[in-house]
Amino acid sequence: AAPDVITPTGAPTGAPTAANGQQGAHLTTSQGVRLRDSDHSLKAGERGPSLLQDHHLREKITHFDHERIPERVVHARGAAAHGVFEGYGTADRLTVAGFLRKGRQTPVFTRFSTVLGSRGSADTVRDTRGFATKFYTDEGTFDLVGNNIPVFFIQDGIKFPDVIHAGKPHPDREIPQAQSAHDTFWDFVSLHTEGQAHTMWNMSDRGIPRSLRMMEGFGVHTFRLINAEGETSLVKFHWKPKLGVHSLTWEEAQLISGMDPDFHRRDLADAIEAGAYPQWELGVQVFPDTPEQTFEGIDLLDPTKIIPEELAPVQPIGLLTLDRNPTNYFAETEQVAFHPGNLPPGIDVTDDALLQARLFSYIDTQITRLGGPNFGQIPINRPHAPVNDMLRDGFHQDAVHSGVAPYKPNSLDGGCPFFAGADDHAFIDAPTKIAAEATKVRAQPASFDDHFSQVRLFWLSMTPVEQEHIIRSYTFELGKVYEQSIKERQLLALANIDPVLCSEVATGLGLPAPEPTETLTDPEPSPALSQVGKEWPVD
Ligand code: HEM
Repeated sequence: AAPDVITPTGAPTGAPTAANGQQGAHLTTSQGVRLRDSDHSLKAGERGPSLLQDHHLREKITHFDHERIPERVVHARGAAAHGVFEGYGTADRLTVAGFLRKGRQTPVFTRFSTVLGSRGSADTVRDTRGFATKFYTDEGTFDLVGNNIPVFFIQDGIKFPDVIHAGKPHPDREIPQAQSAHDTFWDFVSLHTEGQAHTMWNMSDRGIPRSLRMMEGFGVHTFRLINAEGETSLVKFHWKPKLGVHSLTWEEAQLISGMDPDFHRRDLADAIEAGAYPQWELGVQVFPDTPEQTFEGIDLLDPTKIIPEELAPVQPIGLLTLDRNPTNYFAETEQVAFHPGNLPPGIDVTDDALLQARLFSYIDTQITRLGGPNFGQIPINRPHAPVNDMLRDGFHQDAVHSGVAPYKPNSLDGGCPFFAGADDHAFIDAPTKIAAEATKVRAQPASFDDHFSQVRLFWLSMTPVEQEHIIRSYTFELGKVYEQSIKERQLLALANIDPVLCSEVATGLGLPAPEPTETLTDPEPSPALSQVGKEWPVD
């Protein structure tokens, strides 16, 4: 018997057909029965009442009643576009991933998002932006689910519900919608000071991008690449916008939020429609895969730390061009389901405890959000590689599987073991060592305890104007906090970052500036931190 192959139906969206584009000659029911009238319900006489037997009315209303699905628990508001990724071939010595080969073109879908606001919130709020790309490679789908900020709030995924509970609107009044100007946010980051690095990136101009086309993207975690010889290296992914990195001023962002809450999504769609296709270079910082998994003393498994680009330059490996707007927001932008575990052969995860939790979370949430386990069959989520899995049944099963023995090996449907060999482009689980003496613990390395030195590095890397903006945003956001003890605790965190920053914000808040409790180290300012992106494009 033939193997049970579900073949993809081609491009995720095609031109609307008569059936799905409101263009057919006749209006029909969902069962294809032609209708005479869709404007008047069936009534007992012209003045009613309406009759229960009006099955057309019931179909129309019932379907409408169920049009909304739950919004994403985070990153609910997004805008997306289709495009193409072209490999440069420069990563061939690092990975067998075929889509990175020179000249190889792969269709992609990229969704940008804010993290905290609900689906209807404004675009130009101060927040982190999601930057998620689905590469429909011929070796299976690769999702690079990143942000526009290279560090994260927490070091262990077990805290993710906590940081999001703190960042989302207060449970009593459900305000504020999409800003960090509230007690629970500052309560969390002043108690969990590992969040101070991400917080300062948010308070900087990076928190209010000028355009989605002018943002960097970062994979944040360290990933592992595997080459044809089976050698591994550790990498951090970077997206560098060809248009450079640009931000709004806070005053501009506030005005735009009122005048055009859709500013970013409109800008993206208009640019693409006008043929001004945004482009990003994908690059990697590459580190040797040593047992310590550190580079120049910086822990590669700590997602609250960066590796400055002077120490490890970003090396370009391919080019992303977004050149087509979605045809239908719901079908594509809303239903797309990313997952950091969607990895092709040649790319693997590391033991970063934040990434490890993400590997569980995405599929789990999508089972609820997209109504069952078969969301991978929704057109936007279908791989462009042939699928031959053993996953069966479940809500909204679109595939009509043949055969009787969905297990391998079997003696009924050909019995073929059907597993790929080493040369068959199969996924590679990089054989990595686990320390022989490791014991099960709820703990983390001592290096994770340094919460301030890189934040100070970031602060010292800013120009005077950028520092002024940072001072003003801390002052504005903390000025909205009701509880004085939270402001005082955050000021103490700022004192441990920089005395000038602390005293300026304290003055703005009308509070005394506390003395630091940590010894301030004075690293060389890192121009790369503030300048990355601004130096691109080089051509
Ligand atoms: C979306 C969980 C950390 C980037 C989501 C969603 C969940 C989630 C549940 C909604 C997915 C959906 O409904 O389809 C988590 C957990 C994390 C974590 C548990 C930590 C343990 C991160 C980090 C990044 C990130 C570190 C960036 C590197 C994104 C992006 C989206 C997203 C970009 C939106 C994807 C889209 O456009 O649909 N996350 N996340 N998340 N997350 Fe995370």
